[in-house]
Amino acid sequence: MESWVVVTGAGSGIGREIVLALARERRRIVLVGRRRELLEQAAADAQALGATCCVIDLDLGAQGAVAELVGKVHEQCGRVSVLINNAAVLAQGPVETFELADIERAVTVNLTAPLQLVRAFLPDLVATSGTVVLVASTAGWVPFPYTSLYVATKAGLRMWGEAFRAELEAQGARLLIAYPPFTATSMTSGISDGAGVQVSLAPADLVGRRIVKALNAGKRELWCSWTDWLLASLEGVAPRLMQALMRHQRKRFQRMMAAADAKL
Ligand SMILES: NC(=O)c1ccc[n+]([C@@H]2O[C@H](COP(=O)([O-])OP(=O)(O)OC[C@H]3O[C@@H](n4cnc5c(N)ncnc54)[C@H](OP(=O)(O)O)[C@@H]3O)[C@@H](O)[C@H]2O)c1
Repeated sequence: MESWVVVTGAGSGIGREIVLALARERRRIVLVGRRRELLEQAAADAQALGATCCVIDLDLGAQGAVAELVGKVHEQCGRVSVLINNAAVLAQGPVETFELADIERAVTVNLTAPLQLVRAFLPDLVATSGTVVLVASTAGWVPFPYTSLYVATKAGLRMWGEAFRAELEAQGARLLIAYPPFTATSMTSGISDGAGVQVSLAPADLVGRRIVKALNAGKRELWCSWTDWLLASLEGVAPRLMQALMRHQRKRFQRMMAAADAKL
């Protein structure tokens, strides 16, 4: 039986580029997200490169979405050998601006849904000696101000993944945790040009290709930027120094996040 790769957040940004990189290997891909037109465009581009695609549009933040997705994948496609948990929302801004619904949506999309998806597809992943990919973030290590909700979800995802890794490997499957650099996507739109702050952004196609290369190489972790790796390491060995650095940079982060086009 041919197996499938599930990519969440597949219609835009890094997820779309992961799909195109997989398509060059003629993979069978399930594209998941809310905006059907973006998913269909990505699927058409992937099919032109040789992939077989299936589009499933749903809101991972909605109740029952994971069960619906798993049911549709098994009904319309087949067994899953790679699950790429990429969908996320930025969830930035000062804490006092968060509505309860914002908090719940960020936690559900960024943390609960990936965990539930792994749980639901685990029998497939074990049967195929497959791979789970978590698209994490340096924000899961570094306590950037004015992104505290996003930081919390990404730190939760990273630590959950590391705690789960031994369980998964004992069953013959693998885990790749990827840390993309600051990348030019809709998530970062506005941040670099609107805040009067110079920020360099990696192209999303490069990041997508690097994630697929790391997946194929059986890597456990992917850092795309050595400065991100250094920052994460600094948080590990000198958290007080990191806090001082974040205090010093607070206004810069405040301006950057206020300029983000992505709104909670
Ligand atoms: N860009 C960066 O600098 C950067 C850095 C580090 C890590 N990352 C991570 O990389 C991943 C991809 O982000 P990106 O930068 O490519 O941003 P993006 O273009 O905004 O991609 C996010 C994707 O998630 C999907 N999504 C959001 N909410 C969803 C929901 N409720 N249900 C289903 N799908 C949902 C979106 O599609 P719909 O809106 O159509 O649902 C979109 O395709 C994320 O995990 C992000 O945290 C990004």
